[in-house]
Amino acid sequence: MSVSPSRRPIVKGFYDPGTSSIQYVAACPVTKRCAIIDPVLDFDETSGKTGTRNADAILAHIAAQGFTVEWILDTHPHADHFSAATYLRRRTGAPTAIGDQIGNVQALWKKIYNWPDLPADGSQWDHLFADGEEFRIGDVPAFVMFSPGHTLASVTYVIGDAAFVHDTLFMPDGGTARCDFPGGSAKRMWQSIQAIVALPDVRTRTLRCICAKSATRRCRCQS
Ligand SMILES: [Fe+2]
Repeated sequence: MSVSPSRRPIVKGFYDPGTSSIQYVAACPVTKRCAIIDPVLDFDETSGKTGTRNADAILAHIAAQGFTVEWILDTHPHADHFSAATYLRRRTGAPTAIGDQIGNVQALWKKIYNWPDLPADGSQWDHLFADGEEFRIGDVPAFVMFSPGHTLASVTYVIGDAAFVHDTLFMPDGGTARCDFPGGSAKRMWQSIQAIVALPDVRTRTLRCICAKSATRRCRCQS
């Protein structure tokens, strides 16, 4: 069985050596509408300043390809980098989204970091995806899989024949991400991975890992 070329997104990864993470743009080949997945907001640990070099490189690619941004997607709240979703929303006007369990993670943070003013309802994003919710990137059908284990709120985005599995599965030599964050669970990670590898091959290429380890630097998601 083959996938219609119009339902196979054009995917480009953008590697950030500072965090060893990979950001993605997935685009409909027909309509040229696209999603940005897990964009990194640069952070200089010495000065404490943020930057947009990564996000601007993504925007330059989108402009060069003539793409229109339809969604800005986070797979989970990241421990190793800030999200550039808000910056990209400001630049593109596209809505931001994350899984609808994000409030559970924020409730943990609120307590651990003694941050009473933090709204723990996911209102920082425009849309919260439910498990199994369907959406589209142009003509390419997409849906959301709840994939907890690494965090309480992790999701996988299945866009056409590509599954953006974030920090569930890394490259074969990297294994999985850590499960010892507050709310993490090795058991739930195992179950999430089983659900991912059970996806029909015709729809997925499951090695689109968001946070692959660098050969020269250990990813802080793993440390
Ligand atoms: Fe992560």
